[in-house]
Amino acid sequence: MLLSLRGSMQRCFWTLLILTPLLLLLVGLLHVDMEMLTPLLGGQTEGLPITNIMFLKTHKTASSTVLNILYRFAEMHNLSVALPAGSRFHLGYPWLFLARYVEGVEQDGPQRHFNIMCNHLRFNLPEVGLGACPLQVQKVMPNDTLYFSILRNPIFQLESSFTYYRLNAPAFRDAPSLDAFLAAPHTYYNQSLSLKNACARNHMWFDLGFDPNAPVEESYVRARLAEVEQRFQLVLIAEHFDESMVLLRRRLRWRLDDVVSFKVNSRSERTVTRLTPEGQERAKRWCALDWRLYQHFNRTFWAAVRAELGPRRLRSEVARLRARRRELAALCLQDGAPKNKTQITDLRLQPFQSGQADILGYNLRQGLDNETLRMCQRMVMPELQYMAHLYTLQFPEKPAKIIPFLKA
Ligand SMILES: *[C@@H]1O[C@H](CO)[C@@H](O)[C@H](O)[C@H]1NC(C)=O
Ligand SMILES: *[C@@H]1O[C@H](CO)[C@@H](O)[C@H](O)[C@H]1NC(C)=O
Ligand SMILES: *[C@@H]1O[C@H](CO)[C@@H](O)[C@H](O)[C@H]1NC(C)=O
Ligand SMILES: *[C@@H]1O[C@H](CO)[C@@H](O)[C@H](O)[C@H]1NC(C)=O
Ligand SMILES: *[C@@H]1O[C@H](CO)[C@@H](O)[C@H](O)[C@H]1NC(C)=O
Ligand SMILES: *[C@@H]1O[C@H](CO)[C@@H](O)[C@H](O)[C@H]1NC(C)=O
Repeated sequence: MLLSLRGSMQRCFWTLLILTPLLLLLVGLLHVDMEMLTPLLGGQTEGLPITNIMFLKTHKTASSTVLNILYRFAEMHNLSVALPAGSRFHLGYPWLFLARYVEGVEQDGPQRHFNIMCNHLRFNLPEVGLGACPLQVQKVMPNDTLYFSILRNPIFQLESSFTYYRLNAPAFRDAPSLDAFLAAPHTYYNQSLSLKNACARNHMWFDLGFDPNAPVEESYVRARLAEVEQRFQLVLIAEHFDESMVLLRRRLRWRLDDVVSFKVNSRSERTVTRLTPEGQERAKRWCALDWRLYQHFNRTFWAAVRAELGPRRLRSEVARLRARRRELAALCLQDGAPKNKTQITDLRLQPFQSGQADILGYNLRQGLDNETLRMCQRMVMPELQYMAHLYTLQFPEKPAKIIPFLKA
């Protein structure tokens, strides 16, 4: 009796000894599987989708593509958007943002709040101590708003600006080329015209509300970077657009399709300028504040990706995003490719053209059913047309926005 009990305890011991590592292995495998499965289930983070969002739309940084994502989400979920007042197309840019630039805020009664703010504005970060005076943006956005923005390598950002704003900015107008401009910037750049020349130096620094001509002093730069970090929960990087969308989706707790987009407002290869290696070094020095900004937030971006996703999860989510984009492109787009302005037959889908840039758009495939057609239209609608559309939905009693190049 005693012997057989001891015998069964021994068997039990040996069984456990063998089973435990197997169990641990199984748990390990399951854990891996869970990690791979959660994105498929779509619920990788706790809680409801975030719907109060402020996006600081910087210039020539793929921000129009982000705008399309936000507009679509707002329209599909019936969210309110802080749109430019009256016939305007932006929120007071290049002047510092004021709440009254938003349609509907000057109504009587309690201050009106909006879900989403994403049109061009110059952020009004008070340089004299945060909290001392409230941000103008906080007057129109709820206090649980998520703030985010996007930055691009200042070298490529400047190349893009030069073509796009060639005819608008006095600093660029007279320069024979961007390389020539950077070889002697002070010949062309007049600091006292800083609003008109905003695109010619430290444009992203300017968009944040800071002085683009400030001396690059360590304490000054660090203080401004800390302010941006304190205000913006997320700063995306245009060079890593798909990784950015994965991180954005995670933070916003949105569905995959919400962040899938086609590139909008892109230039045709024909009108892309490329700086010489020497010009690139000059661009870094000329836009040293933007360079510091970009380097800093490129670091914080990757630190966040590492902390929240890890390399394997990042790879699989980026792959899913790209696969879905290919699927939707095959479904929606004629030839699955962007088109230049002479090829776009539907005027409502023609993007605004600027400077010497040849801005591309899309034609939709023929014969789509109504629901697919509406979904595809939302994905390719250029930003001015989309803004005008949302404005009419939101303020049906006001005169519609007139887009000049569509009137002809
Ligand atoms: C959208 O919101 C407006 C005002 O917030 C409301 O009047 C309207 O009924 C909503 N529409 C839908 C389809 O939910
Ligand atoms: C945020 O706003 C809500 C409603 O407007 C208010 O009840 C709440 O106290 C505010 N929270 C903070 C931290 O200001
Ligand atoms: C710069 O612009 C200001 C204001 O228009 C003008 O008075 C000044 O002459 C300009 N400076 C140069 C060097 O062109
Ligand atoms: C941005 O960060 C990534 C990852 O650390 C790095 O590979 C890349 O060189 C950085 N870009 C620049 C322009 O510093
Ligand atoms: C548009 O693309 C077509 C086909 O690639 C080309 O023949 C035409 O020259 C382009 N037009 C412009 C204005 O770039
Ligand atoms: C699709 O839309 C067209 C035009 O708006 C309409 O005439 C047609 O009845 C719609 N078809 C279906 C199946 O809803």
